[in-house]
Amino acid sequence: MATMSTQAVATDLRGKTAVVTGGAGGIGQALGRRFGRAGMNVVLADVLAEPLKEATRTLADEGIEVAGVVTDVTDYASVEALANAALDRFGAVHVVCNNAGTGAVSEGYMWEHDLADWRWGIDVNVLGVIHGIKAFVPILLGQGEGHVVNTCSGNGGFAPIARGAMGGPATAVYPMTKAAVLCLTESLYTHLQMTGTRVRAHVLFPGGFLNTGIWESWRHRPDRYAAAQQRRAPETTLAAVVARFEAAGARVEFSPLDTIADQVMDGLAADSFWMMGPPTPADQVVAGKAASILARGAPDYLVDVLGQDAESTSDEGGTR
Ligand SMILES: NC(=O)c1ccc[n+]([C@@H]2O[C@H](COP(=O)([O-])OP(=O)(O)OC[C@H]3O[C@@H](n4cnc5c(N)ncnc54)[C@H](O)[C@@H]3O)[C@@H](O)[C@H]2O)c1
Repeated sequence: MATMSTQAVATDLRGKTAVVTGGAGGIGQALGRRFGRAGMNVVLADVLAEPLKEATRTLADEGIEVAGVVTDVTDYASVEALANAALDRFGAVHVVCNNAGTGAVSEGYMWEHDLADWRWGIDVNVLGVIHGIKAFVPILLGQGEGHVVNTCSGNGGFAPIARGAMGGPATAVYPMTKAAVLCLTESLYTHLQMTGTRVRAHVLFPGGFLNTGIWESWRHRPDRYAAAQQRRAPETTLAAVVARFEAAGARVEFSPLDTIADQVMDGLAADSFWMMGPPTPADQVVAGKAASILARGAPDYLVDVLGQDAESTSDEGGTR
């Protein structure tokens, strides 16, 4: 839904350029489409060449000025090459979405997690964002304007969902990486402010149950992060997650990705650090965590996370 503020920024950003990592599908492609419809030039970047080509073609068919650049965010040279490609094609970059991510699922208790799972999750979800900041922020500063939008998650950004809906341990990798994304973005916000620039940092919390590739990231696991340990159970699929929720009596309804893209447009217009949907009961975790810290108490809010969010967790993956 386009709001007044969305319209305002659409005018502002018309003719400007957005770069979106993880743009071959899911939230990234929805962001690219939303930016393109607002009259922006779009650079979609992804490690998956074929889906990227398809996503780029789809947006181009809508009349969007779009380029696809195969990029591996775990490799700094590749992200630098992305920045250069964007500048070569469109002359400037105004909005950078560090959105590429991997499900970072791991089996068992965290001391049992495969080190390859940790490395893959950290390299994509954390180092990938650091690479984006290092390659693009100097360009934005040189222009004197621009926005960095880092994709976080309530799972980690608020608190980890440490126990899955079925009562078993959920991955510790994913929430750890997303907690890092929030922390990085807070530092970025402050450092930018210290320079007096108009460049801004924002953190995106996609909400709802989303039908994206993140649940099945394992399908595209690079060889260099090949699992070192034998898996005990088959990899999770989105269909299996949905089936588990339904078996537990939960109604599964996917939220439209356009809503997330609108959140970003509205957040840019309003210059919001926190790019979030309307308040939900899950927000209470934040209050519980703050209370626990201030009282030097036990982290009981983690139990609350499970209670409130059980519908959207899986044993392995937790909420994305
Ligand atoms: N889907 C959700 O419920 C949800 C919730 C909160 C946050 N997020 C976050 O949103 C972001 C987008 O995820 P999504 O849900 O659209 O999933 P997705 O799997 O559809 O999209 C992620 C994209 O990142 C790409 N990618 C993975 N490794 C990469 C690498 N090394 N270099 C470049 N690209 C790479 C993938 O190929 C994929 O196209 C992620 O950061 C994810 O953690 C998702």
